[in-house]
Amino acid sequence: MSVSLLVALAALAVALVAYVRGRARLPYPPGPKPWPVLGNVTDVRANEFWLAATDWAKEHGEIVYLHIAGQGLVFLNSIRVATELMDKRGAIYSDRAPLVMAGELCGAGDMVAFTRYGPVSRRQRRLMSLGLSKASIPAYHPLIASSTRPFLRNVLASPDDFVGAVRRYAGGLNLNVVYGLEVTRNDDPYLMKVEGATDLLANHITSGGGIWAVDILPFLKHLPDWLPGAGFKRKAAIWKKEIFESVDFPYNAVKANIATGTAVPSFCSTLLQQPDGLSELDEFDVKWTANSMYAASMDTTITTAQHFLLAMLAYPEHLKRAQAEIDSALGSGPGRLPTFEDRPMLPFVEAVFAETMRWAVPVPLALPHRLTEDDVFEGKLIPKGSLIFANVWAMLRDPEVYPEPDVFNPERFLEKVDDATARLRDPRGYVFGFGRRKCPGAHLVESSVWLLFAAMLATLDISPAVDAEGHPRHPVPVFDNSVFRTPNPFGVTLRPRSEQARRLIEDDT
Ligand code: HEM
Repeated sequence: MSVSLLVALAALAVALVAYVRGRARLPYPPGPKPWPVLGNVTDVRANEFWLAATDWAKEHGEIVYLHIAGQGLVFLNSIRVATELMDKRGAIYSDRAPLVMAGELCGAGDMVAFTRYGPVSRRQRRLMSLGLSKASIPAYHPLIASSTRPFLRNVLASPDDFVGAVRRYAGGLNLNVVYGLEVTRNDDPYLMKVEGATDLLANHITSGGGIWAVDILPFLKHLPDWLPGAGFKRKAAIWKKEIFESVDFPYNAVKANIATGTAVPSFCSTLLQQPDGLSELDEFDVKWTANSMYAASMDTTITTAQHFLLAMLAYPEHLKRAQAEIDSALGSGPGRLPTFEDRPMLPFVEAVFAETMRWAVPVPLALPHRLTEDDVFEGKLIPKGSLIFANVWAMLRDPEVYPEPDVFNPERFLEKVDDATARLRDPRGYVFGFGRRKCPGAHLVESSVWLLFAAMLATLDISPAVDAEGHPRHPVPVFDNSVFRTPNPFGVTLRPRSEQARRLIEDDT
């Protein structure tokens, strides 16, 4: 080896050491002052955490860092930094937190939203993009359209249970699209099974942010089940059985339908009938990917539909204008139910849809991604293992981009702007998260939720609930879910807006 090569290598080594030391000395991004050891344990809260995160953004800037007993939490508060880090550096910003309770003990670790970044998550995402790509959605349009009337009927049959009607709509559509199973009754056994498991996940296993003592102290998982204090293990064993059943039950039904030649085209049947067949591993992926869609679509769709009602109650002038637009395109009354072909003729309805997504922000901090390597951004060190939250709430309430951001104003999307500005302002670029874990259901939502809104606007009179004296009671929404911006149940009066609308809803032909 020549002397000059040796010198060059030595210089490189010195530079590397200096770089590594320099990195170690780099500051973390700013954030609220931590307590020694425990960190910011007193700063975090379960209710509307996105509001606290946005206050920190105002004080500390686009990236905020805090920690809880050493576990880093990073908030990316602008579209710019979320795109730079989660999109452009997706190779290291795409893991999920290892959740011992939900993942290992309750058996949900193979659901797409929980899988660690690696071969499994990549295989699952590939399957999802096959079944839910933009190009594949029009094939589901007839199904989506045929689910609308039963939804409206359910709303009229039980106007006090709007959430139940949306749950059945989203659940039925999902079972149909994913498994080809048609739901004809509200107590359909497949619906009941997957709903039960979804309820367990949302309201028991991951409620309160999904962090259990065993997630922080993993050795607790080795406690014998009978020990006092190991109640979480006994619960987990019961919940795991429920979750596994909800994965197998509809999946086995598709397989049986394929065997008897009665399967209708669906996400599962298409993948299961590949000309070359599927390996055991592929089957495992299809089964878990299929199941993941149900749970992931439920709270999000319900939350979005509830915000749509809240918006229509608070801004009746927009409801009236959307209905007038529908009447002029479809005939008064309306003449018929809206279809996807009508969409280009309904720009105001389109704007209501976009503004609902912006105003609602159904998952305000998205789902946290885990950073798998130390990263340096604009002179700040973001340590490996940090949980990265895209603060979608702050992005969609940014007054520079959306003047008077708290006001529900669909007109902001009717303003003529160039294509680049329109893309930058489109909330659908952000409400579904960022990077390699971005919501794979976004294209389906683009169709299913649009038609849901259009059908409600076309046929329903949406007004406040009234008290015993007949006075209107305007809802004051309360949010106490820590992940989704789901309002607690509120009163609303939903009636057919005309005799013609009632006939359209009840029509069986
Ligand atoms: C209005 C409706 C919806 C909203 C606002 C929404 C939003 C989101 C968000 C914010 C994430 C986290 C993304 C991230 O980590 O960066 C997510 C993940 C996910 N969503 Fe959706 N979603 C909706 C509907 C759906 C539907 C209908 C499906 C399935 C058919 C679905 C399937 C999923 C799955 C499987 C994940 C986990 C992806 C992963 O971890 O790789 N979502 N969604």
